[in-house]
Amino acid sequence: MKTNILLAVLFGGLFTLRINAEEYRPEFCFECHENNISRAVVHPPAKELCTFCHVPHADFDSPTAVDHNLITQPNELCLMCHDVSEVNHPAVGHPTSLDTDPLYPNRPFNCISCHNPHSSNMNKLFRYNYKTPVYKGRLCTVCHWKNFSSSPVPPTPPWDAP
Ligand code: HEC
Ligand code: HEC
Ligand code: HEC
Ligand code: HEC
Ligand code: HEC
Repeated sequence: MKTNILLAVLFGGLFTLRINAEEYRPEFCFECHENNISRAVVHPPAKELCTFCHVPHADFDSPTAVDHNLITQPNELCLMCHDVSEVNHPAVGHPTSLDTDPLYPNRPFNCISCHNPHSSNMNKLFRYNYKTPVYKGRLCTVCHWKNFSSSPVPPTPPWDAP
């Protein structure tokens, strides 16, 4: 991937490219980026058009203030297509928007604290593999360990679970 990126920059095309809609599709992006929709459960919009959620490179001249060139903050993105809130989300009453993610304190706590926006090996696009013996098959124990066990809190699982 590094080589592709280097070549792209060398040929000077990247940020001056005026790409058309065809080229917003995943296959085009994967010429330079790692395939992030290869896991078993794929989020339908990511399969269709990466630019549902990301500013295309052609528009980087006027990027948004959001990390990862997202068109808006993660929760606002999700709510464009999903009618969920703390009262009608399947995990009813659970907070979905807080300043701090308990596992990744540099991140806010939001929809992507539990769901991967691209793909996952877990159902409902869960971000963490909670089926490992350590979490005893329960998503909830990943963050609420102390409610379930008095043994030491396990190491933080990787952000992008393999
Ligand atoms: C439903 C919205 C959505 C769609 C569709 C989407 N993304 Fe993302 N993407 C996100 C969010 C949210 C993040 C931020 C994740 C984070 O903070 O770790 C992100 C992060 C990224 C990143 C940077 C961080 C990382 O995970 O490596 C890349 C690169 C990326 N997306 C590429 C793509 C590509 C390529 C596609 C199309 C196959 C795509 N995205 C489709 C929402 C989306
Ligand atoms: C010709 C190579 C190339 C193509 C094709 C390409 N990108 Fe990129 N992309 C890059 C480079 C280089 C960067 C800047 C270095 C980096 O952040 O990885 C970048 C950065 C990004 C970032 C920010 C990553 C971060 O961590 O903040 C996102 C998101 C992204 N690209 C999404 C896309 C999407 C979506 C597509 C398809 C519509 C796409 N890219 C197509 C080369 C490419
Ligand atoms: C462009 C529209 C769009 C956006 C934006 C979007 N989604 Fe989705 N999402 C869909 C569609 C379509 C489906 C499949 C039908 C359904 O389950 O509603 C889906 C399905 C899902 C599922 C269920 C997956 C499964 O296998 O059952 C989850 C979880 C999900 N999305 C979370 C998110 C999160 C979190 C975000 C924000 C990062 C987001 N979505 C943003 C369109 C979108
Ligand atoms: C604390 C973790 C957590 C957070 C945060 C979270 N979810 Fe979920 N989400 C879940 C769980 C658990 C389920 C599955 C419930 C079930 O299958 O009974 C789920 C299911 C879903 C589904 C699938 C619904 C269906 O009927 O299949 C969607 C869509 C979804 N969430 C979107 C979101 C959005 C959008 C946000 C942010 C506003 C969000 N989630 C925040 C844990 C979370
Ligand atoms: C990614 C981390 C994460 C996951 C996974 C998670 N939670 Fe939470 N949960 C939080 C945070 C953050 C809070 C708010 C701070 C606190 O009370 O610890 C919270 C609060 C709660 C509360 C208290 C709600 C309130 O308003 O007082 C309950 C109950 C709860 N979670 C249950 C669950 C259940 C059940 C699951 C599994 C479906 C789950 N949580 C999964 C992070 C998570």
